[in-house]
Amino acid sequence: MVTSALERALAPFPLESVPASHARRFLEPGPVVLLTTRHAGNENVMALGWHQVLEFSPSLVSCVVSRSSRSFEMLRASGECVLNVPGSDMLDAVVGVGNCSGEDVDKFARFGLEREDALEVDAPALPQCHALIECRVSDDRAVERYNLFILEVRHIRARVTPRPPEYVHYVGDGEFMLSGKRVSRKRLFRPEMLGF
Ligand SMILES: Cc1cc2nc3c(=O)[nH]c(=O)nc-3n(C[C@H](O)[C@H](O)[C@H](O)COP(=O)(O)O)c2cc1C
Repeated sequence: MVTSALERALAPFPLESVPASHARRFLEPGPVVLLTTRHAGNENVMALGWHQVLEFSPSLVSCVVSRSSRSFEMLRASGECVLNVPGSDMLDAVVGVGNCSGEDVDKFARFGLEREDALEVDAPALPQCHALIECRVSDDRAVERYNLFILEVRHIRARVTPRPPEYVHYVGDGEFMLSGKRVSRKRLFRPEMLGF
């Protein structure tokens, strides 16, 4: 259950729009995300660790969604989703969401997930998360063969302050790694390599 303490902690830090080309800021570290969909009056959420950044502009990411999940049919039918990036304070909700199906249960209610309409796609977004990455399926040629969806990022909102939270990284067999400290090596980069 996501606690009201989380909501209180987030209140001073509103979600702000971020350029779509900055998707790597949130996805390159490889956190587990919560993929939300809406289709035919139903909404759903699943945990997703298999995603990858593909391109800056247009901003493209890919994800593998199991054919056996309810989310697969919802994403294929609607062509839209939100990749919500949770902090480690949502870990138990992430695990819960990834261990049951929207076929059987209203996961938003069971795991205390607030939702609101996304801005540019027809899907729910999870405002308790650190970043809300709104996507539209832009290429479905690998879906039949690999369950791999190529998504174009249409809009990103994120809590830019105070600091990025610890992300949640799945390492298998029920264990997670929480993202660690950040270090800068900006001085070793060519200037054109910086700025996301
Ligand atoms: C940490 C974690 C990561 C997961 N990553 C993926 C993933 O990348 N792709 C996938 O298809 N399922 C993944 N799952 C499993 C789905 O979240 C799970 O099958 C879910 O119950 C599907 O829900 P649905 O039937 O409501 O769509 C993951 C589960 C967990 C707990």
